[in-house]
Amino acid sequence: MKTALFLAFTFLFFGSSTPAPVLDISGQELRTGLDYFVLPVIRGRGGGLTLESADNETLCPLFVAQEQLEVSSGLPLYFSPVNGVIRESTDLNVLFNASSICVQTTLWALTYDESLQKYVVATGGVEGNPGPETLNNWFKIEKFDDDYKLVFCPTVCDFCRPVCGELGVIIVNGIRRLALTDDPLKVMFMRV
Ligand SMILES: *[C@@H]1O[C@H](CO)[C@@H](O)[C@H](O)[C@H]1NC(C)=O
Ligand SMILES: *[C@@H]1O[C@H](CO)[C@@H](O)[C@H](O)[C@H]1NC(C)=O
Repeated sequence: MKTALFLAFTFLFFGSSTPAPVLDISGQELRTGLDYFVLPVIRGRGGGLTLESADNETLCPLFVAQEQLEVSSGLPLYFSPVNGVIRESTDLNVLFNASSICVQTTLWALTYDESLQKYVVATGGVEGNPGPETLNNWFKIEKFDDDYKLVFCPTVCDFCRPVCGELGVIIVNGIRRLALTDDPLKVMFMRV
């Protein structure tokens, strides 16, 4: 009984509200059509997000990784939300606004790496078209203490049961790659 009351109470206050906007480091709401650097909040462990090869012998495809150097901001990227507005907990495509020599697009896509036995963030997805075929291309920004984290838990398909998790850094061949981990990377957004 108490639980039911509590749930009803919670629903009244939080259930129907739209998620909060995502703010950049100057307190401005993130907007579509603008470029951002995604930077780590904790200092001394790498820089912004960029594109990297998996190792020094295979050039393509490119994966999402963190710059080695804290002073490097990485590549500009932008968000293309499913409903047109960038908010917390909202499905969105993430695209580097950069040219690449590889044939793949620069749109983030989750892939399973057999050799690492981990889900990693690669590139090559197509923008938009929410549904089961594009499930791996939808990420979310979630509040994490006073900052944010990136998560994979798409809700663009009602019957799909995607693997859900938080994006953090794993080090492979010396490269700080973005992958599903239990230790999310705490990030902030800086307008380019
Ligand atoms: C991407 O980069 C181009 C060229 O610098 C720029 O015109 C555009 O506004 C940028 N942002 C987006 C979201 O396309
Ligand atoms: C690639 O990196 C490995 C170590 O990860 C190193 O042994 C090898 O010499 C490198 N190859 C080239 C072509 O630089």
